[in-house]
Amino acid sequence: MTQQDEERTRTAYDTVADLYADTFTATEPEQPLELAMIDHFVTSLGESPRVLDAGCGAGRLLPLLAARGCRPQGVDLSPGMVRRARADHPAYRCTVGSLTDLAFSDDEFDGVLSWYSTIHAPDADLDRVLAEMARVLRPGGHLLLAFQVGEGVRDIGPGFAAHGLRVTLDRYHRSVLEVASRLERLGMPVTARLERGPVGRETDPQAVVIARRPVG
Ligand SMILES: C[S@@+](CC[C@H](N)C(=O)[O-])C[C@H]1O[C@@H](n2cnc3c(N)ncnc32)[C@H](O)[C@@H]1O
Repeated sequence: MTQQDEERTRTAYDTVADLYADTFTATEPEQPLELAMIDHFVTSLGESPRVLDAGCGAGRLLPLLAARGCRPQGVDLSPGMVRRARADHPAYRCTVGSLTDLAFSDDEFDGVLSWYSTIHAPDADLDRVLAEMARVLRPGGHLLLAFQVGEGVRDIGPGFAAHGLRVTLDRYHRSVLEVASRLERLGMPVTARLERGPVGRETDPQAVVIARRPVG
């Protein structure tokens, strides 16, 4: 992402952080299907796995991961979101940082979970973000990505205007095939994929893709 892209995303999430954290405190928007994908991901990681919630937002998935036996920690671009993650979920380490340049060592985590955090990365930057996630995974570790399915870019700023918040924020939609192809080109074979239609107030299909970093 260019510095300008990152700055825009950071400013937008700083602006909406309290609304986001107060609206979604746990897994309100998730369906049992995608929660089952998280369960499947966790069972692939071994005993007490260290899991990076990459783009953790206000940290709502950190307790869910811990309840499933993981040792989770979060990283997010937005200091406002990290402030809420630390306040609302003080049991977990959460730091400010970018997915394009993760401040973690190679092979550090058993799992990386990206729950709707690659959706603001322009197409030209997505491979770099995926490569960073793969880099911090140990061989045999798994990466999970959740995202909205579709094509092109949407301006999602107007959705926040109804709450009196003015933000500029783009969301990039992709097909499961495109995301899976990018992962496989990076040497990360896809082990599971889910696509479901929109539910409730959702306007788009949703997807979850899991890939594995090969051993050796
Ligand atoms: C739709 S929110 C999802 C947050 C959280 N995963 C959840 O489900 O509640 C997207 C999050 O990704 C973060 N994000 C977007 N681009 C990022 C980047 N380049 N580096 C780190 N975090 C990023 C945003 O700051 C935001 O908190």
